[in-house]
Amino acid sequence: MPLEPAHRRFLPAGSALRCAGGFLLLCLLAALGAAEGAEREAAERLSPYFGTKCRYETLHPHLLREPLALGPPQSGFPLPPASCTPLQLNAVIRHGTRFPTGGQIKKLAHLHRLLGQRNGSCAASEALAGWSLWYREDMDGQLAERGRHDMSTLARRLAARFPGLLAPRRRFAFVSSHKARCLNSSDAFRDGLRQALGGQQPPELGNDPTMLGDIKINDTLMRFFDLCEKFVRDVDNNDEAMHEVDAFKVGPEMKKVVERIANNLCLPVDQLNADLVQVAFFTCSFELAIKNISSPWCSIFSEEDALVLEYLNDLKQYWKRAYGYEINSRASCILFQDIFRNLDQAVLESKKNASSSSTA
Ligand SMILES: *[C@@H]1O[C@H](CO)[C@@H](O)[C@H](O)[C@H]1NC(C)=O
Ligand SMILES: *[C@@H]1O[C@H](CO)[C@@H](O)[C@H](O)[C@H]1NC(C)=O
Ligand SMILES: *[C@@H]1O[C@H](CO)[C@@H](O)[C@H](O)[C@H]1NC(C)=O
Ligand SMILES: *[C@@H]1O[C@H](CO)[C@@H](O)[C@H](O)[C@H]1NC(C)=O
Ligand SMILES: *[C@@H]1O[C@H](CO)[C@@H](O)[C@H](O)[C@H]1NC(C)=O
Repeated sequence: MPLEPAHRRFLPAGSALRCAGGFLLLCLLAALGAAEGAEREAAERLSPYFGTKCRYETLHPHLLREPLALGPPQSGFPLPPASCTPLQLNAVIRHGTRFPTGGQIKKLAHLHRLLGQRNGSCAASEALAGWSLWYREDMDGQLAERGRHDMSTLARRLAARFPGLLAPRRRFAFVSSHKARCLNSSDAFRDGLRQALGGQQPPELGNDPTMLGDIKINDTLMRFFDLCEKFVRDVDNNDEAMHEVDAFKVGPEMKKVVERIANNLCLPVDQLNADLVQVAFFTCSFELAIKNISSPWCSIFSEEDALVLEYLNDLKQYWKRAYGYEINSRASCILFQDIFRNLDQAVLESKKNASSSSTA
């Protein structure tokens, strides 16, 4: 029996905690309790500069109050029903909120140790030495519980936006990379969709594969950057490829930031570098995203520092993932081909249906 052409592709990829979903851009801001007023302000002040590490809600603050609300209407979306009938939905979605990578956690532990051995005394370093390092190296980029919530609520909002497509008895397909955070994200997304389609179902029914299907692993599609030989050779494994990033790390703007942070923390400047300062900055973003708190790490940065650190991260994404090298975008053709093939197929099926019903 032919199934309807509705298709839900769930395709988390990559490694960073991002503000961008493939279809919808979703991110937000915090409103924290009165007791930690100054620190709350610190996290809020810095959050626009977190770039690929900003929390999901920074772009759509209404989600902080109502995670399932669709937000204010956007002009031109959705198209009026008379002009357009949705046949299929293809979405490329990044994983939900994750923990820092093992490498980042190691650097943070190093910085934290330095603070314990500092010789001067400053308010900021005292607060941070008292902060307990709760990240373990084995958390290494794994999905956080908050990430499950991101994915589940995203699925439920999408189902509310496309009630005709994301409906019981439609056909769904999920494709993920092999990464645990992506498989976990797919699973959480599917759970959210299940809730949206069937409400609170008994688990037997919720697991019915005809309803939502398995999650297929396909790294050729979802981690095209790992499998593209030219990208791996010329960009990923090429020390020269990031020379602009490396130059900025030791350039005058970054040097000033490192000096200011060393001063704030009562550490000798030669013990700090751009990487350690960046890890401290991202720790502020991770604590906001994962725990919904303003971490004491936020308080050591000014907005001026944040601008420089935002630029450093943008520069890295530019050369490693975006316009810097042509192969960065060409490597994704395999994914786009797959999307367009699926869209073409949906149109074809729909035309076939229309002509067979008119001849019947
Ligand atoms: C995040 O923190 C703010 C302020 O403390 C609170 O109002 C909000 O409910 C929290 N959100 C979640 C999801 O815990
Ligand atoms: C503090 O001073 C001691 C002794 O001079 C030195 O060995 C240590 O490296 C200093 N700590 C830091 C963080 O620089
Ligand atoms: C991710 O998946 C693993 C294996 O199924 C599971 O043990 C773990 O609890 C999951 N984590 C999250 C946050 O979903
Ligand atoms: C993965 O996707 C590619 C591109 O669409 C396809 O050619 C390949 O057969 C898929 N692999 C698996 C195991 O499904
Ligand atoms: C296409 O035809 C099949 C079989 O008659 C039907 O189940 C399905 O709903 C139709 N799909 C669309 C989009 O009209």
